[in-house]
Amino acid sequence: MGHTRWWKDEVIYQVYPRSFQDTNDDGIGDLPGVIQHLDYLKNLGITMIWLSPIYKSPMVDMGYDIADYQAIDPQFGTMDDFDDLLDAAKQRNMKIVMDLVVNHTSDQHEWFQKALADKNSPYRDYYIFKKTVDGNVPNNWRAIFGGSTWTEVPGEPGTYYFHTFAPQQPELNWENPKLRQEIYQMINWWMEKGVAGWRVDAITHLKKDLDWASIPADADDGLVSVVKKGQNRPGIDAFLDELKCETFDKYDAITIGEAYGVPESDLPNYIGPDGYFSMIFDFSYMNIEVADVNEWYLGPSSWTTKDLKAILFKSQADISAVDGRSGNVLENHDQPRALSKLVPNAKYQTGTAAKALATMYYFLPGVPFIYQGQEIGMKNFERHTIQEFNDVSSINNYEMALKKGYSEKEALKTVNAKSRDNARTPMQWDSTKYAGFSKHEPWLEMGNDRSCINVVDELPDSHSVVNFYKQMAEMRSDDRYHDILIDGALVELQNVPDDVIAYQRKLGNQIITVLINLGTHEENVTLPEMARRVILNNNVPMNLTDSNLVLPPYTSIVLVS
Ligand code: NOJ
Repeated sequence: MGHTRWWKDEVIYQVYPRSFQDTNDDGIGDLPGVIQHLDYLKNLGITMIWLSPIYKSPMVDMGYDIADYQAIDPQFGTMDDFDDLLDAAKQRNMKIVMDLVVNHTSDQHEWFQKALADKNSPYRDYYIFKKTVDGNVPNNWRAIFGGSTWTEVPGEPGTYYFHTFAPQQPELNWENPKLRQEIYQMINWWMEKGVAGWRVDAITHLKKDLDWASIPADADDGLVSVVKKGQNRPGIDAFLDELKCETFDKYDAITIGEAYGVPESDLPNYIGPDGYFSMIFDFSYMNIEVADVNEWYLGPSSWTTKDLKAILFKSQADISAVDGRSGNVLENHDQPRALSKLVPNAKYQTGTAAKALATMYYFLPGVPFIYQGQEIGMKNFERHTIQEFNDVSSINNYEMALKKGYSEKEALKTVNAKSRDNARTPMQWDSTKYAGFSKHEPWLEMGNDRSCINVVDELPDSHSVVNFYKQMAEMRSDDRYHDILIDGALVELQNVPDDVIAYQRKLGNQIITVLINLGTHEENVTLPEMARRVILNNNVPMNLTDSNLVLPPYTSIVLVS
């Protein structure tokens, strides 16, 4: 069955519910809080909302550890609240996408609890248990959050269960057809409720190499990253194909795969016209600032804009070669804020640069995703002790850095730069003590720049970041630009300075030209012939008198002929 790609002109906003809006004064965001801001999102041009997990969870990994797939966590509200949200969104012609976390559950899930309680329980086979002869862990694979992928079963020495992420996130055994059917039923249950589709978590991990063999270590802890034996492994296609067929296809759902590391040769299967997913996120440059994403405690890389360009255009070329679409992202709940990450010099981390970064990704082919707070230019927030962090991966990476011999100060610096908590500070609605997020002290300490960076102050300012996002959404739905922005081909412009990202979208004889200076110096650009009229500009008004354009630092401009 071919897809109609009905979703290709959506603009999708990611809500991290815990940090969006608290309405019951417990310092934790909730579903009524999402309803409260639907008009704000509508006004921003958002057509679809992706909710990070809201299911019942002990929150070891902030909801990506699910204890009950068909219950709302009381911290977020009730199923009635969820139904109200669906209705309220529908009234505004907006759709809701849920987070599908089916690579693992929480250790508190009933299935896992039953599996632990009885060796002979059929639920043992819902997970991955192994007993070793010598009593040691079954192999040397390292979990994504650090440490072994194996945790000993309490009361059963020499028996272990497997987890790609934290020990509290036991891996589901996709080899078991019964487990797969349970998952499909659950997905279809939500689809019947009226959700539009899914952001699909950690999906390239479903298949592990069944030899469970150790391979040479890649670091001095003697371990090797689980991605080498448990990510994009042969055999995953059968799972993804069945998943799609039993669920998504039946509802013409939108699906966005969180699919790290899909090899180019597999892209047609993932996002070709009949692929497993509508799109996958383009994460190609997401971790450009660290030397090794699998061991980010090792510290930063020395990337340049030239590297960023090369990665970005290569990724887009690969996607277009298979007639695919990408979910385009600058930020999400797993990443530091883009302004802090991609603008190394703090002096330039301003609204202007936020708009330049926005211009860079928003006009690429594919569907733009906006992570809450990105649209107002929120930034990282520095913490001074490791105790102030909540994120499980930050804490683990800190410990790994210390083990590796880094000083506490050095380890803290790396964690501050990369921590997922940077994206998880509460949304800044206004300049008050808790930024209008809550009346109660928030679950995670607020950023300290809310007096300058907040929604209430930015909305009336026509030059603000938030209004820039609004303008970009308006361009996507404007009859003059809609078709070219949705379906136009992408062409990189080559003869530009290293710090300038330059591309065109082309459809028929129409051309849109996008130029962004991501450097700290003025740059001269010779304008292509078909670029004379400015339709979007992030900085001082620009008059084009001849074909030469001087772009100040972090200036972006969009032109038509
Ligand atoms: C990716 C999610 O985005 C992240 O937040 C989570 O920790 C892991 N997958 C595990 O579910």
